Amino acid sequence: MRAGRPLVWLALVLSALAAAGARAQDDAIDVGRRIFLEGRNASGEPIRALFGQQSTPIAGAAVACGNCHGADGRGRPEGGVVPPDITWEDLTKPYGHVRAAGRRHGPYDERSFARAITESIDPAGQRIDGAMPRFSLSVSEIEALTQYLKRLSQLHDPGVADSALVLGTILPDRGPAVEVGTAMRAMLHAYIGDINERGGVHGRRVELEVVPDFETAAERFTRRPVFALVSPYGVGREPELARFAQERRLDVIAPFTLSVGREPSLQTFYLYAGVADLARVLLDYAGRQGDLKAQRLAAFVDEPDAGVADALQAECKRRRCAGLEVLPARSAAEPGAVARLAHSSVGAVIFAGSDRELAALIGMADRLGWRPAIYAPGAAAARAMFAAPAAFKDLLYVAFPTRGDLQSGSPAAQAFEKLRQGRGLDASHAAAQGFAYAAMSITLEALRRAGRDVSRERFAHAVEGLYRFDAGPTPPVSYGPGRRVGALGGYVVAVDPQRGFRPVSDWIGLEPL
Ligand code: HEC
Repeated sequence: MRAGRPLVWLALVLSALAAAGARAQDDAIDVGRRIFLEGRNASGEPIRALFGQQSTPIAGAAVACGNCHGADGRGRPEGGVVPPDITWEDLTKPYGHVRAAGRRHGPYDERSFARAITESIDPAGQRIDGAMPRFSLSVSEIEALTQYLKRLSQLHDPGVADSALVLGTILPDRGPAVEVGTAMRAMLHAYIGDINERGGVHGRRVELEVVPDFETAAERFTRRPVFALVSPYGVGREPELARFAQERRLDVIAPFTLSVGREPSLQTFYLYAGVADLARVLLDYAGRQGDLKAQRLAAFVDEPDAGVADALQAECKRRRCAGLEVLPARSAAEPGAVARLAHSSVGAVIFAGSDRELAALIGMADRLGWRPAIYAPGAAAARAMFAAPAAFKDLLYVAFPTRGDLQSGSPAAQAFEKLRQGRGLDASHAAAQGFAYAAMSITLEALRRAGRDVSRERFAHAVEGLYRFDAGPTPPVSYGPGRRVGALGGYVVAVDPQRGFRPVSDWIGLEPL
């Protein structure tokens, strides 16, 4: 057995060498990933490239390969000169390719690939279109990029493993919203349990990581990455939610919030309309009452809230309003401004300010004997309407993104009801449950459509493809490349002073602006 010893040593040395080799390869893939996705090299500096016939220098994220070819490298179907599939399997197909303008070439190898990205010459020696930049990369960087492309089609996005896909949500477990949080959590778990009993999605179990707040989320989702956020509670914390998602490249499906953020992030898909779109719902309703073409219109908006003013102006132009004047909400409490509107025969007011400001406006209007119709997007100023003098009966309207009661009748609404009863979920929080159900069914449908090969990019694309999708006890939802509100529209109710709300419209759907 004397010969055994050296063999054991040799085996150990070999396996150590193999491990070191594997580590080096992992490092290379990591460098390749940074170049591909972030446009940065190993030391974190932006990579440089020349662009177009003018050889314009550009650097960094703008020339990250994934930006044009897609984070999964599979190319993008839209556009003129199309960034093709650049996964290694595709580049090296034995029969080669026919590209834009009939340019033909054979399969790529390491050398011709290096030439393509540094000199824009394809394997047949022809010039590649100027829409593809020419890169200055070192030999080892090109090597790393090549390694990455070879592995790309087997790499999963965070939160995706071979047998499971992890979703995340943030729901309060204390404070005033604890009941909503609890009801939503129970619904999400029930729905996911149901899906997993039927085999999951594309052979993967769906798992849910629930955390109570952003602080815990930051820590937990770093340890256990999630694929997307579903139905997080964002009321009053919209900007924080948007930032959280953006930093982690997380899509957010239907955050529970009362407003679409001021700068809606493209990573967030909302279920219901925010203030700006509700203001458009009110214009639609006012138009049906004949209030737009004949009467002059004034709108009071919170000053920084450009979204509402822009939406109203665009909608008014489309509807050919007789005239729209936009004022800052605080001028609703200025006697001079109010008297001027009263005397210039303004017949309708869209009011997107605070309760206090509306109370001041109504008080002054009443003293002046001015009786405009007042339309408020959302319930922010509803108290002032309740407290209005009786003379304002039939003149006060509020738009809501959803009615308190749930939509019923559609197959998804029935499935929701069945699940809720089957799992014995508390009936007093049906609205919160309905919301969570819709968020989850949008998510699951998009996961199904994205396929087994799901990536965040494909997922977002699949959500954008939903058109009049029956998501549960809600109006049907549609999204699109620039559309982030699913149930785009709302209901109008009249406020009878001292009495209550009275529904005056069915669902009013809007066209995207
Ligand atoms: C600004 C957008 C853009 C960026 C950034 C970009 N590409 Fe391209 N790429 C294109 C377009 C467009 C084409 C198609 C050109 C054509 O068909 O003539 C292309 C073509 C290619 C081709 C195939 C050429 C052929 O023979 O048809 C390869 C390989 C390629 N790109 C690799 C890369 C790599 C690797 C990176 C990152 C280092 C990268 N690209 C970054 C837009 C881009």
